[in-house]
Amino acid sequence: MQKLIIEGVHQLEGEIKIQGAKNSVLPILAASLLCGEKCVVGNCPKILDVDISLKIIEYLGCKTKFADSKLTIDSSNLSKNEIPESLMRKMRSSIIFLGALIARTGRAKLTLPGGCELGPRPIDMHLEGLRQLGVKITESHGIIECSVMKKLKGCNIVLSFPSVGATENLMITASACEGKTTISNAAREPEIVDLAAFLNKMGANVSGAGSSTITIEGTKKFYTIEHSIIPDRIAAITYMAAAAVTGSKLTLREIPREIINSAISIFEESGCAIKEYEKNVLNIISPERLQSVKTVRTMPYPGFPTDAQAIIMAMTTMSFGTSVFVETIFESRFKHVSELMRLGADIKVEGKVAIVEGVKRLSGANVTATDLRGSAALVVAALAAEGETAISNLTHLDRGYEDIEKILKSVKAKIKRV
Ligand code: EPZ
Repeated sequence: MQKLIIEGVHQLEGEIKIQGAKNSVLPILAASLLCGEKCVVGNCPKILDVDISLKIIEYLGCKTKFADSKLTIDSSNLSKNEIPESLMRKMRSSIIFLGALIARTGRAKLTLPGGCELGPRPIDMHLEGLRQLGVKITESHGIIECSVMKKLKGCNIVLSFPSVGATENLMITASACEGKTTISNAAREPEIVDLAAFLNKMGANVSGAGSSTITIEGTKKFYTIEHSIIPDRIAAITYMAAAAVTGSKLTLREIPREIINSAISIFEESGCAIKEYEKNVLNIISPERLQSVKTVRTMPYPGFPTDAQAIIMAMTTMSFGTSVFVETIFESRFKHVSELMRLGADIKVEGKVAIVEGVKRLSGANVTATDLRGSAALVVAALAAEGETAISNLTHLDRGYEDIEKILKSVKAKIKRV
């Protein structure tokens, strides 16, 4: 089993180009099945979740080619509309293929994605919206079977919660429905805006993405296109936190400030300065010792992203004072706390609230990753822990971070994969 060995504490220095966004490329790969021809997706990160998505796309009968961050998908020979359990279990977000398969073939059969490290991952909003569009759905023994008896017809859908995945699945399906669909209380994440841009380039007619009401006029024909993925805002926050905990200056390239605004205010509250001397290039300058942050409450975009909660918590473990985290999006997203405590952090969890008392020092230890962003939190904390830390269970980390040890080594971190 591979491990990351990290030796703290060393200052980081240099610049990092931010990878393409995992949570943008996954729905866009699903949407590419609508076009039935070749699509080229640029700035695609080399991560496990993309590999698994390509396995699913190839299983469905499509051809894919991935060369130097350019991905070509040819879905002209799509011949299946079901995803086997083995592939569904590998990646929860494979539920994002549901809408595309229904829109393209009129049928879909896949297993429920199942729970994950963050708690149960229900898909009731996905299924409710699809039923409103005219999809007949039966669920039994963990299998979802979808079929379209008559035509799919646009309608007004109101989400009870701005679910990112449900918004994406419904945008993709509605693009191929007859008539107009509105999605109210839609998710507003930058990845939703990127998906809308991709769909519109393909010939769809999506407006309002990024706001709470998205309108989609259905279209019949989709065209082959090229599209470049937006930068990964959570990866950017991860490398900023690595700079902050090691008192370093770091330059981050290709990250628009506005998509990480809520995190930037937390970095500034903790005593870091974030400068943007040129467009989409951020410079973070960190203090000797960070200040605590009063309250970090995770919220749907543009609020503070739940995916950055563990990472910022790792950053505050040595801040001066008490920091409070409230996780409002997922049921159990504090699994990283016990591992951070092995490094000497002082954290108490009460339900949705975690209270972090800043300690003077962290010391290296053997820790085990619990989930994707929890692993990133351990990397951040290990960079600030004296001595050597060994992080195991790296599959989680590799699902979402491209070449993380190569990138950190390039900015002078003492890190190696064994
Ligand atoms: C997306 O997951 C992201 N994944 C997650 O990132 C991210 O944490 C999440 O959005 C919130 O921003 C991808 O984009 C691939 P949701 P998703 O539907 O779509 C509940 C990472 O680390 N819910 O917005 O699954 C759900 O249980 C990953 O990159 C329902 O109850 O998130 C959760 O509590 C982790 N019913 C909340 O809503 C539904 O039908 C938010 O889920 C759907 C969701």
